[in-house]
Amino acid sequence: MSGIKINEEIYYVGIRDWDRRLFDELIPLPEGTTYNSYLVVGKEKTALIDTADPDKKDIYMNYLKNTTVKKIDYIITNHAEQDHSGCLPYVLEKYHEAKVVTNQKCKDFLKELLVIDDDKFLVIGDKETLSLGGKTLQFFMTPWVHWPETMATYLVEDKILFSCDFFGSHFATSDLFVTDESAVYRSAKRYFAEIMLPFRIQIGKNIEVVEGLDIKMIAPSHGPIYKNPKMIIDAYKDWISDKVKPEVLIPYTSMHGSVENIVQYLTDKFSEKGIFVKPFNLNKTDSGELAMALVDASTIIIGSPMVLAGPHPAVASAAVLINALRPKTRFISVVGSFGWGGKLVETLTSLTSNLKAEFIEPVLTKGIAKAEDYKRLDNLIEIIVEKNKNL
Ligand code: FEO
Repeated sequence: MSGIKINEEIYYVGIRDWDRRLFDELIPLPEGTTYNSYLVVGKEKTALIDTADPDKKDIYMNYLKNTTVKKIDYIITNHAEQDHSGCLPYVLEKYHEAKVVTNQKCKDFLKELLVIDDDKFLVIGDKETLSLGGKTLQFFMTPWVHWPETMATYLVEDKILFSCDFFGSHFATSDLFVTDESAVYRSAKRYFAEIMLPFRIQIGKNIEVVEGLDIKMIAPSHGPIYKNPKMIIDAYKDWISDKVKPEVLIPYTSMHGSVENIVQYLTDKFSEKGIFVKPFNLNKTDSGELAMALVDASTIIIGSPMVLAGPHPAVASAAVLINALRPKTRFISVVGSFGWGGKLVETLTSLTSNLKAEFIEPVLTKGIAKAEDYKRLDNLIEIIVEKNKNL
């Protein structure tokens, strides 16, 4: 048997994508990623749990070929997104007798995305089981981590939860198991922030399902396997909670220095007052850094120059992302600079309308900030400091 052994008759046949630096043409991957795929060999049947990104199909199919497994009976598909399902057509072509085991919603997606024939599917429901002979798979629907059709597969005898994206991390490593919890924590938080933050409520329900199981290991579809499941479950509970931290984030851009000066002033003053503050120069930071900070922060101050009567496009783009991620931000404001006028605040307010945050009086300066403007900035700072004291 080739593949890396995880437990008796359970093997890792996934791919490490060391060089990938962007996912969905949107999400930066500073540490690459992995597409985890697992073989579970029962006394009667063999199951493959998830496949890999089709970009890596040759390597992946070679990994499968190099195992001693000559027949795959079931391909458990926890999630239809192509980084896990994309090699399904190739696996089905080689292992003709295999059935794709998944829920009805995932089947519908797979038929649309990969054009797989109806008779290739075995549809299962929530909590149903499938015996491989001495190994029993049980399926749990875990919708919205981050698509509506996602499920997790629990290997009853070994107490392993194959959770797919849920609890995953974009973290390419040759370590099969988590060895550096703080590094994986950071990577998992970035991943949570980028795709799961809008679904906190649904994720809370899924965590209740997971906590109802006796789990020894969580084997996600990205990143290393957790032998200490509590670590990542507790992290998720913290990230989805309603708690915010007294932190001020300032996503901004500046063309000729006026906004930069304002941001520098705000950053210095909040620091002096003991409030955590972090500026994000949007042309230099990556969106994952900002997303990760949004998980906890109480306050966002968006900084932009007026460009063609509205916010700078880099700022508008960040506002769209913040709006889509629906962070639990409590307070939001705008600072900016203009030459002759426009709808900077109105546009940014409209672009962030999903946020349930209290809007605090913005401060716009004509050109560079002057003595009177600094007084208004001091007032904005005082309001935010007070509100953060009362969290
Ligand atoms: Fe890793 Fe939603 O795919």
